[in-house]
Amino acid sequence: MPLFDVYPLYNVTPVSGKDVFVYDENATAYLDLYGGHAVISIGHTHPRYLEAITSQVSKLGFYSNAIQNPLQVELANKIETLSGCHGYELFLCNSGAEANENALKLASFKTEKSRVIAFKNGFHGRTSAAVAVTDNKNIIAPINAQQQVTIIELNDIESVKTELEKGDVCAVIVEFIQGVGGLDQGTNVFFEQVDKLCKANHAMLIADEVQSGYGRSGKFFAFQHYNVTPDIISIAKGMGNGFPIGGILIHPNIEAKYGMLGTTFGGNHLACAAGLAVLNTIEEENLIDNVNKVSEHFIAMAKTIPQVTNIKGRGLMLGLEFDFEVSELRKKLIYEHHIFTGGASNKKVLRILPPLTIKIEHINQFFDALKKALKGI
Ligand SMILES: Cc1ncc(COP(=O)(O)O)c(C=O)c1O
Repeated sequence: MPLFDVYPLYNVTPVSGKDVFVYDENATAYLDLYGGHAVISIGHTHPRYLEAITSQVSKLGFYSNAIQNPLQVELANKIETLSGCHGYELFLCNSGAEANENALKLASFKTEKSRVIAFKNGFHGRTSAAVAVTDNKNIIAPINAQQQVTIIELNDIESVKTELEKGDVCAVIVEFIQGVGGLDQGTNVFFEQVDKLCKANHAMLIADEVQSGYGRSGKFFAFQHYNVTPDIISIAKGMGNGFPIGGILIHPNIEAKYGMLGTTFGGNHLACAAGLAVLNTIEEENLIDNVNKVSEHFIAMAKTIPQVTNIKGRGLMLGLEFDFEVSELRKKLIYEHHIFTGGASNKKVLRILPPLTIKIEHINQFFDALKKALKGI
């Protein structure tokens, strides 16, 4: 049976990985500055991660959400400690889209309203409501297009105000650093005004931290660079270092009711073990400090490359903008220099999303390769 052909593929076959490198079937090493789309947080095959998953699966890999699962409680407490988001409650699911789907549903339950405000170039996933609030017509099927969504330009606070004051908006969903869109960010004033307007108009502020969360921005959550208090925070990618797990942090102003949300697989024992290994590693290896240190070096190096017209993002969620489309450059980096990088909807942006364990020497390796690759472009 052929695979349903929805992904354009690079001709590389990774078969193993170690920290910031993946290796193909000929043992060629590739420096991973993409992290499998910002997923690899603590590095490939981290020993603590292997140990946690192996030991958990040999005891109990899965049971449903109808029994006590102390691993979920431990995971929730650890997220609270490391994020500093006190008072929130945790609901666990399996992916970023599912996290946002549940966040939007909860906002609608809480406010009894249904319109959502989202932002230009935003990406929130591919399930029903999550894709409807994503700014990409090509991936919205007619069945999704029935949702009521208003897309507004980042920083257009007047439009946000006008729309919120109509009184029918249940949520404003925002990436505090845009991922797929190309690393754009609103201003401090904009985000802080959005937060205030949500509170004044009984709309939930949803921080989509699926890509920017878990230390990638240089703080545990990207919204923590601003003075805002989201009602719901969605998490996924870096949370499981490749094990499928997602979740939402829910402010105490939203009350749980039995049956309101649910999932078969979400929060299973194996996923929690993976999630705990990630958080313990982030803490014990001071990975958020490493993000800030390596990011500073990356930005300093990027400033020395004349072809770079703009450096975007924060922490290890970075973009280099050029005045040409980067698809050829990415191919050269992969095939000639064995370095994975990412693209964005903005085709002139090269996205850098490495494991948070990356070191300065790897950044130097990238810039040496980039200088060589740019010569031929
Ligand atoms: C900001 C953001 N939200 C949601 C998603 C969807 O996550 P998933 O692919 O796990 O459903 C993504 C994926 O790229 C994302 O970047």
